Amino acid sequence: MTDQVERNPESTVEAVGPGHADALLSFFSGLPEGDRTFIKEDVTDPATVRSWVEDGSSRWVATGADGGIDGYVAVRRLSGWSDHVAELRLVVGPQSRGTGLGRVLARHAVTEAISAGATKLVVEVVAEQGSALALFTGLGFRGEALLEDHIRDRSGELRDLLVLAHRVDATWSAMDTVGLSEALDGSPDPG
Ligand SMILES: CC(C)(COP(=O)(O)OP(=O)(O)OC[C@H]1O[C@@H](n2cnc3c(N)ncnc32)[C@H](O)[C@@H]1OP(=O)(O)O)[C@@H](O)C(=O)NCCC(=O)NCCS
Repeated sequence: MTDQVERNPESTVEAVGPGHADALLSFFSGLPEGDRTFIKEDVTDPATVRSWVEDGSSRWVATGADGGIDGYVAVRRLSGWSDHVAELRLVVGPQSRGTGLGRVLARHAVTEAISAGATKLVVEVVAEQGSALALFTGLGFRGEALLEDHIRDRSGELRDLLVLAHRVDATWSAMDTVGLSEALDGSPDPG
């Protein structure tokens, strides 16, 4: 299933599939290294990306009119006693930022994670990254943990990592305001 992206009408959100292997590798290898780290897997390794396109579950891309990839989002379910928790991993290509694509991909992932039964969603963002913070707080995420000096940026400087969390039950009414319940139903919200 595909979704047309609102403020970026050239892009379409679609599930990762066999046709995306080369475009995904080229997207990830074109990203600054610091941005790749948010995906947490070795995204420049062809074997890793090929295993994703064969599996195809819980990963989506935004593709442009030329078939190239502008953004990627994944929902990874934690295991064992945290298997009610889903972690989001999101990255938008530098040339496509600020057009609303990150928000569209994040909303898509939140909707899919809730549909799959996750009751808590988490995402890790660099503490000073305004766009990631604005994006996820706008979707009902709140700061839950601050890990000081937890990561090093490209120049080797230590930076704080913020864990944002979204409790599905507690924030359900807030989700109405961003249209997530509408997306889940597939029908307009009467209220
Ligand atoms: C975070 C990221 C996905 C945002 O992607 P994007 O496509 O630029 O996001 P959007 O255009 O949808 O903007 C999202 C919000 O951030 C705001 N924003 C955009 N750039 C901003 C900036 N430099 N400073 C503050 N806010 C900003 C927008 O106004 C928007 O808020 P709004 O919807 O209330 O207007 C992108 O910057 C990225 O890939 N960063 C590297 C990886 C990362 O940090 N991932 C997140 C954790 S996994």
